[in-house]
Amino acid sequence: MRRKVIAGNWKMNMLPNETMKFIEELAPLVKDTKNEVILCVPYTDLFYALMGVQGTNIKIGAQNMHFEKKGAFTGEISPDMLKCINVEYVIIGHSERRQYFNETDESVNKKLKAAFEVGLKPIVCVGETLDERESGKAFQIITSQTEKALEGLTKDQVKNTIIAYEPIWAIGTGKTATSADANEACEKIREKISEIYGKDISEEIIIQYGGSVKSSNSKELFDEPNIDGGLVGGASLEANEFGKIVNYK
Ligand code: 13P
Repeated sequence: MRRKVIAGNWKMNMLPNETMKFIEELAPLVKDTKNEVILCVPYTDLFYALMGVQGTNIKIGAQNMHFEKKGAFTGEISPDMLKCINVEYVIIGHSERRQYFNETDESVNKKLKAAFEVGLKPIVCVGETLDERESGKAFQIITSQTEKALEGLTKDQVKNTIIAYEPIWAIGTGKTATSADANEACEKIREKISEIYGKDISEEIIIQYGGSVKSSNSKELFDEPNIDGGLVGGASLEANEFGKIVNYK
């Protein structure tokens, strides 16, 4: 039985004082959950978040990083910089990074390898645009993104990657994929992983759904057999609402 992993992606929101207050409110709400709880916060909140979650079951992730170890990359953050302050997770290849910051399947793959090199656990995002869905290319796009992201990783690394299926048309739009559609997309990703890395790995890998997840639809989505939790944007900015999503059952 796979665990459910519920991660908040705060994107470019929340200041350090808001971060501390949020964690104080969330911690008692989720302390008894069997689900894994992760908050992916802006770089400037990481230190405060890591202090705040001490003694709780909440884990902390970053939202991006560079693939190089160090060097002349002004404004970038290296994998080691995250690891050395005890960040556990890192989101890689979010569609907003692909869309606004020119991230490609190739850079996503390099970042994934760099994350494993220092022991960070990656949450890698894949997802199709509305055009791609309407022209019947969704499954081809997401399985290709998955294959390219994971290329060259060991089976063990693949098993320890979290994949977030986030259809771009459902992000921040209030439009959620139906639970059946989201499940089918996650199933296609799982089948691709089975084809390349074997059934055992495909049955263990965590595949989340993301895109307008809220407390009113989380149970229906997360009860689907191929959806192992969610990557939550807007609804992760309010502790009570995010707590309800984590405790969806
Ligand atoms: P929303 O939940 O705001 O649609 O964002 C989803 C997302 O992009 C999470 O990474």
